[in-house]
Amino acid sequence: MIDFTALAQKYDTPLYVYDFDAMQVQYEALKTAFKGRKSMVAYAIKANSNLSVIKHFATLGAGADCVSIGEVRRALRAGIASYKIIFSGVGKRDDEIREALESNILYINVESDGELERVEQIAAIVGTVARISIRVNPNIDPKTHPYISTGLHDNKFGVDINSAKRMYLRAKNSEYLDPVGIHFHIGSQLTELEPIREAAVIVADLVRSLQTVNIDLKFFDIGGGLGIRYRDEATISPYDYAQAILSTLTALELTVICEPGRFLTANAGYFLTRVLYEKVNEQKRFVIVDGAMNDLLRPSLYGAYHYIEAVGKPDGEGTPADVVGPVCESGDFLAKDYVLAPLKHQDLLVVHSAGAYGFGMGSNYNTRGRSAEVAVTQGKDRLIRSRESFEDLIALETPYLKS
Ligand code: LLP
Repeated sequence: MIDFTALAQKYDTPLYVYDFDAMQVQYEALKTAFKGRKSMVAYAIKANSNLSVIKHFATLGAGADCVSIGEVRRALRAGIASYKIIFSGVGKRDDEIREALESNILYINVESDGELERVEQIAAIVGTVARISIRVNPNIDPKTHPYISTGLHDNKFGVDINSAKRMYLRAKNSEYLDPVGIHFHIGSQLTELEPIREAAVIVADLVRSLQTVNIDLKFFDIGGGLGIRYRDEATISPYDYAQAILSTLTALELTVICEPGRFLTANAGYFLTRVLYEKVNEQKRFVIVDGAMNDLLRPSLYGAYHYIEAVGKPDGEGTPADVVGPVCESGDFLAKDYVLAPLKHQDLLVVHSAGAYGFGMGSNYNTRGRSAEVAVTQGKDRLIRSRESFEDLIALETPYLKS
């Protein structure tokens, strides 16, 4: 049990707290599910990119899935070997492609013809052969929130099957490209297995048809997306997930790569915020707290539900309230109509499932410094990112112009 009150006292609020032991349990569950097959868990750094979090997964043997050269640098800095790093993303700048090639990462995940051409040209300039995979969009509805659904043709990610075939042939015939993998990722917070299995069937068939033209891929990258329980969602067990994928790969000698983010970190993270005061008008009760949408954006952006624990108060008793922050936006809330006991100044709220897409989606809106981050391992806490000060916030601004 983590002593949230003690941590809030020691580090102040708003504060992110991560349970590193819980992250390890998740990592091992997934890794074990794929045992018996060559596999790699490439942690999706975007979920929580604190260097200590990445290092924790590096120590456990994870690779990294990155979507910017900044994330590639973080992965390398945290000790993930270059041959375990994948660089994905729908738009990559020339300098990012170049640096990825020079860093000799496992492969670049290509998402368009235009990108394939740029990678080829830059590989020629650098004088290397670029290992690539192609992100295939299998046109499957993942049945998740539209903002985090990525595997349908009406969204920007990946290429359709026919384009992928053409691109693989082109890559095969290029002296600067080496097609080594195939990739799909149909969405995030997936709670149904069938869409993932269907996508895997489609992509595995493509792998087989590429074999007939002597394109032998080594890596079958199934993306991330494993859902977690925020409230009462049914989730997919790692074992069922692995079995569903492996059942589509009969007679294929491929290393399976998965890229979980949320599954590894979400439920290991907590966002701590203190009550400033309550405010009641004729219609509504508001609990005003010191954390806001700039700290945890998911409720505002997706209407996402996060379980809120009012420390020392009875759970599920009280009256509905909107839990809101100090930011000047009506959309600034951590919860709507959430049943909470009466609260007073300095009471502590713990927002659960905040370890993924929490701190990383934070901003400095309203000149609010981002929260500190703390890791807890075997009962010991350690500051892994300091609270941002006002001086930090203005550090990169040029001195103001004289009028
Ligand atoms: N691989 C690729 C190519 C991805 O695009 C993503 C997530 C992942 C892996 C990791 O997905 P995960 O296992 O975490 O579901 N901000 C949103 C989630 C955006 C996910 C973007 N891509 C949220 O807070 O729900």
